[in-house]
Amino acid sequence: MTTDATTTVPVATPGGHYEILIGAGLLADAAAWQGLPPAAQALIVTNTTVAALYAPALQRAIAPHYRHVDLLALPDGETHKDWPTLNLIFDRLLGSGSDRKTVIFALGGGVVGDMAGFAAACYMRGVPFVQVPTTLLAQVDSSVGGKTAINHPLGKNLIGAFYQPQRVICDLATLDSLPDRELSAGLAEVIKYGPIADADFLAWIETHLDALRRRDRSALAHAVQRSCEIKAAVVGADEREQGLRAILNFGHTFGHAIEAGLGFGEWLHGEAVGCGMVLASELSSRLGLMPASFVDRLRGLIERAGLPVRAPALPTARYLELMRLDKKAEAGEIRFVVIEALGRAGVRSAPDALVREVLLAHGAAA
Ligand code: NAD
Ligand code: GLY
Repeated sequence: MTTDATTTVPVATPGGHYEILIGAGLLADAAAWQGLPPAAQALIVTNTTVAALYAPALQRAIAPHYRHVDLLALPDGETHKDWPTLNLIFDRLLGSGSDRKTVIFALGGGVVGDMAGFAAACYMRGVPFVQVPTTLLAQVDSSVGGKTAINHPLGKNLIGAFYQPQRVICDLATLDSLPDRELSAGLAEVIKYGPIADADFLAWIETHLDALRRRDRSALAHAVQRSCEIKAAVVGADEREQGLRAILNFGHTFGHAIEAGLGFGEWLHGEAVGCGMVLASELSSRLGLMPASFVDRLRGLIERAGLPVRAPALPTARYLELMRLDKKAEAGEIRFVVIEALGRAGVRSAPDALVREVLLAHGAAA
């Protein structure tokens, strides 16, 4: 298990090679901020909540490397992961005379990271950016692998780009201020890595869940490191989701439908993914791939993590309509990530009638 010392996880994709640094206190560790692309200017993109907590520390960390460090605090929340808010980043970059070398630092959770990353991918056809994730979800998932996006009223993350950061700097100390509900949401993405890639990690999470929920540093360090190692291996093999990378979307087809169906921001992304994994494991079981005991095991863990396990009572027809917009859908056929064996996932389609049964068994309305 890792300790408080900094751990480095390398990521190697065709779109870029970089390191994920994991440790407590990295915002105050000068070594973590050395060697980034040189530029006259940097822009910290964050939100109003995180700015108050960590922007001064990040400004101090990077001030020695740039003549001018600008700060933009976006409104907080998934409901702002949209065009008008994205445009605020372009307005600031253009207004401050940023050039093609300006480095963008994304300080915050997945919403800020996805939007700042997308802005970096587009501004002058691409400027360097650094992920400084401050939620558990962002440290174990969204800051790694180069998916950047905003939402569209018709669906989640539908407008975006693959664009890799220059570095990911995970300061575990920032997790101390995270609300419990957000910590649980991050645990959903940690749990995800077990069934799809590492049965031993699933067992480790089961043993250490209470330690994780009380923010034991060494348990969190191991959870972030192992999650990042698994994600780095998957995106290293399939950066642009031509195949394997889809397994990282275990629970997300149902989860995205929950988010869009309720209205973005009603359930947290991690909550929707947690419940979505219960539904996807039920589907795996009804497809004859996994025993019913697996559904019980995973549901028990997700519930212990403080996450919802009953689907919102939306009509099944609405779920199906929303899931047809999922990016994995092909020619109108919904494709689901299913568990084929503990630690191994695949992507399959399923008859609508079976999907309806799964939804009805877990809380959806007829
Ligand atoms: P978020 O970014 O909305 O952050 C959650 C809340 O925590 C916000 O209110 C934020 O202001 C606050 N916060 C952040 N850091 C804090 C801290 N240290 N202390 C106190 N409060 C803090 O949500 P999230 O769960 O981090 O990310 C969800 C988003 O990530 C979704 O939009 C999802 O689509 C996206 N995502 C992207 C990928 C990817 O590969 N790009 C993967 C998974 C999820
Ligand atoms: N979170 C899914 C992915 O990065 O592919």
